[in-house]
Amino acid sequence: MSTAQHKIGSGFDAHSTADDVLAGIDLTGKLAIVTGGYSGLGLETTRALTKAGARVVVPARRPDTAWKALAGLAGVELDELDLGDLESVRAFAERFLDSGRTVDFVIDSAGIMACPETRVGPGWEAQFATNHLGHFALVNRLWPAIEPGGARVVSVSSRAHHFSGMRWDDVHWRTGYDKWQAYGQAKTANVLFAVHLDRLGAERGVRAFSLHPGGILTPLQRHLPKAEMVERGWIDEQGNPLNPSGFKSPEQGAATQVWAATSPQLAGMGGVYLEDCDIAEPAVDGDQSSGVRAWATDPEQAERLWTLSAELTGVNAFA
Ligand SMILES: NC(=O)c1ccc[n+]([C@@H]2O[C@H](COP(=O)([O-])OP(=O)(O)OC[C@H]3O[C@@H](n4cnc5c(N)ncnc54)[C@H](OP(=O)(O)O)[C@@H]3O)[C@@H](O)[C@H]2O)c1
Repeated sequence: MSTAQHKIGSGFDAHSTADDVLAGIDLTGKLAIVTGGYSGLGLETTRALTKAGARVVVPARRPDTAWKALAGLAGVELDELDLGDLESVRAFAERFLDSGRTVDFVIDSAGIMACPETRVGPGWEAQFATNHLGHFALVNRLWPAIEPGGARVVSVSSRAHHFSGMRWDDVHWRTGYDKWQAYGQAKTANVLFAVHLDRLGAERGVRAFSLHPGGILTPLQRHLPKAEMVERGWIDEQGNPLNPSGFKSPEQGAATQVWAATSPQLAGMGGVYLEDCDIAEPAVDGDQSSGVRAWATDPEQAERLWTLSAELTGVNAFA
């Protein structure tokens, strides 16, 4: 059963870092796969997990860049993966399965945000395809290696899920593209994915969570014109962060996904959306600043998305 969307009083907050939530937790012998584990929040997640003793596989779209970003970190393995290419997803998953190992934490941190209209594969909208469909195929293909009785899958969503529910009549934005609504739909899909995966996996002791990490200046903003970031009050004309206190550091930004993957405070729970290292409350109408929208946690929407994603990708570990 999925857990109710209510704070549990974890004792952590928006200022907590990935190291804070791992204090006293020994991950020796644990194995994680962290998509996007070489940039932004993913890089910080890789750093914190390895510091706590875990081994981390980082599948990279750009292995050369990843190699440089991860230089000097012990306990990291690099591989190749392009989430926008289902053949690449299949090949990575097969290499991992062939290694005969099991994985304790799959952290789906890779993502793109508010890019110009881009099509991948059979004409799929790139944000839905990369942020959701690629991760859907990845987790389903990895399913035989996801350790029963304790593994967790963490789907990194965003507060931007408030921008759009599932657009069932046109998930690929063929009748008009809005870069922010398309990001919002993809991030709603990240939440719904965790809801249904948790329902399917709980019996085997595999639990799934989704989360908003906070607002953090990272390369994620690469598709935004400078003028738009200035207008939003994020940076000044010279590119310096404005109102730095309004942003989390990457160490703070990684905390909620690391907490989701490892915290004993979440034992026996799953299927919920987290923010600031706690379970989020339901969103209040008219307030997009926090909480989770009902359209993202509805079990029927979650099942419908699972069915659609399985049809589109041709992968379903539970068929
Ligand atoms: N930063 C924020 O304020 C914020 C807020 C809410 C939610 N989030 C979510 O947090 C997650 C991490 O964001 P971030 O800030 O850490 O961004 P980031 O620094 O840009 O990292 C994103 C990672 O995803 C990888 N990636 C992108 N497309 C890929 C593909 N097709 N295949 C494989 N990997 C791909 C990128 O690889 P390349 O560098 O090689 O492209 C990069 O390593 C995202 O899911 C984002 O939606 C972030």
